[in-house]
Amino acid sequence: MSESGGELSGPDLGTIGAASSELKDGGMLLGHFNGEPVLLVRKGTAVHAMGAKCTHYGGPLAEGVFDGSIVRCPWHHACFRPDTGEAVHAPAFDPVACYALEQRDGRLFVTGTSSQTPVSPPSTSVPTSVIIVGGGAAGFAAAEMLRRQGYQQPVTMISSDDAGPYDRPNISKDYLAGKAPEEWIPLRPSDWYQQTKVDLLTSRRVLQLRPNTRSVELDDGRRLEYGALLLATGASPVKLDIPGAQLPHVFYVRTLRDSRAIIAAAEHARRVVVIGASFIGLEVAASLRTRNLEVHVVAPEEIPMQRVLGAELGRFIRDVHEQQGVRFQLGQSVSSIAEHSVTLKNGTTLDADLVVVGIGVRPNLELAEQAGLRIDRGVSVNENLQTSAPNIWAAGDIARWPDRYSGTSIRVEHWVVAEQQGQAAARNMLGVNQPYTAAPFFWSAHYDVAINYVGAAQEWDEAKLVGSIQDRNCLVAYRKKGKTLAVASVNRDADSLRIQTAMDRNDADAVEAVIQGRSR
Ligand SMILES: Cc1cc2nc3c(=O)[nH]c(=O)nc-3n(C[C@H](O)[C@H](O)[C@H](O)COP(=O)(O)OP(=O)(O)OC[C@H]3O[C@@H](n4cnc5c(N)ncnc54)[C@H](O)[C@@H]3O)c2cc1C
Ligand code: FES
Repeated sequence: MSESGGELSGPDLGTIGAASSELKDGGMLLGHFNGEPVLLVRKGTAVHAMGAKCTHYGGPLAEGVFDGSIVRCPWHHACFRPDTGEAVHAPAFDPVACYALEQRDGRLFVTGTSSQTPVSPPSTSVPTSVIIVGGGAAGFAAAEMLRRQGYQQPVTMISSDDAGPYDRPNISKDYLAGKAPEEWIPLRPSDWYQQTKVDLLTSRRVLQLRPNTRSVELDDGRRLEYGALLLATGASPVKLDIPGAQLPHVFYVRTLRDSRAIIAAAEHARRVVVIGASFIGLEVAASLRTRNLEVHVVAPEEIPMQRVLGAELGRFIRDVHEQQGVRFQLGQSVSSIAEHSVTLKNGTTLDADLVVVGIGVRPNLELAEQAGLRIDRGVSVNENLQTSAPNIWAAGDIARWPDRYSGTSIRVEHWVVAEQQGQAAARNMLGVNQPYTAAPFFWSAHYDVAINYVGAAQEWDEAKLVGSIQDRNCLVAYRKKGKTLAVASVNRDADSLRIQTAMDRNDADAVEAVIQGRSR
């Protein structure tokens, strides 16, 4: 991930303007004003001018999609309202600028910035206080949305992490590679919590959740009561259980502290063994290759990520890593770890001064289980993300929700899903009644290759390739009984967005139209 910068393009909207006729209904037109990229967007007779650079990591909104009501960013699918600039769906939180427009002689001119997002006041039911258990993606997004919606009662966020909410996906990518500055990592600077009166308690664990008394007990003995509660405890890495797994040079990567510990260890290491060819395992491999370490990846599957992405895309990812010097030991598992080596079950020994394990995660369900919430391979929630207990919502890696597009209940471990669920839960706590109907989305980055994935195909019987994997320009549709449940893409960002839009609308025909190139 890198911030976009670069040249301005399109007309100077302050001086030359743009012909109104050039901007079709439902279309976007890129120009600039006062040195900033500006996007004109038309819906019917209404034309809006908004900042063209996504406030997440600077994605070019002009290369995204306007679906008639929101503009979607091509990089990680954040959504902005063109009339107010509001970042209505994460991963962006800050609005883009809005500009005043004037029409003269059939041309559109930007005349200045206009006022920002009006805050919608909280509606019908307002809880007396909100407790958020978990300071990760879902927890932060919920707190931010509560305050954005004008909620003024106490909000307490309790996190067992020693850092406030941060950009977790980055800690296996650019941050681990040494390419992301520290200031990219916190989701908000620390004074944001004071300014917004979100009481952030870090290094604090909730030990008990008691729905009957609407209270939680913390590990410092405190008992706090809530009007509404969001459970967003995320997931923890599955631990290796083999001889040597406890050695100090064996690491997992879930927290910022983990990532920093790997960075410190990498400074004195030459050879790394990554155990597990998961997304995280391979991102770690890529980041440590960027640091010029010798990297071996050991995994039981014959093709990395075949189960999720299929054989062709899996082989492609393996090749991308091999071209960068990663060596794979596939179809293998590790039997033991020693101070300077790792031994595989087939007897091979690999030198290793650093071992990173990425063999999957388990949702943190203990609080929900002991509180008696309904559990079904995750915390069961309804379409409004409410659990089986009154006044308790759940979001993120722990939540299993009814996914409208696939018609099944699903639980996924994706950053944007967790954030958007946190936002939806917050709105629902305020009585907005916002069912969560977005199709899941995740991305994964390996060197200069980014894979975007929309939908959820827990099982599929066909992986249909459209385009060319070798040319790094393709879609792969994962189908079950003829219905496309998910689509992975490489360098097809706009198609990925169109497919997401169609899935969000539960329109399988429109999904197929994009795959077959009939929709532009
Ligand atoms: C290294 C890494 C890279 C990733 N990259 C991507 C990516 O590229 N794309 C993508 O889509 N997804 C990615 N993910 C997955 C994504 O980060 C998760 O899906 C997302 O963070 C889930 O959000 P969450 O809020 O459910 O949980 P988390 O973000 O894990 O937050 C859970 C919080 O709960 C706290 N907690 C747990 N138990 C308690 C307790 N009892 N009391 C108090 N606090 C508690 C934890 O300390 C933590 O603060 C990545 C994950 C990792 C680890
Ligand atoms: S840069 Fe726009 S969503 Fe990430």
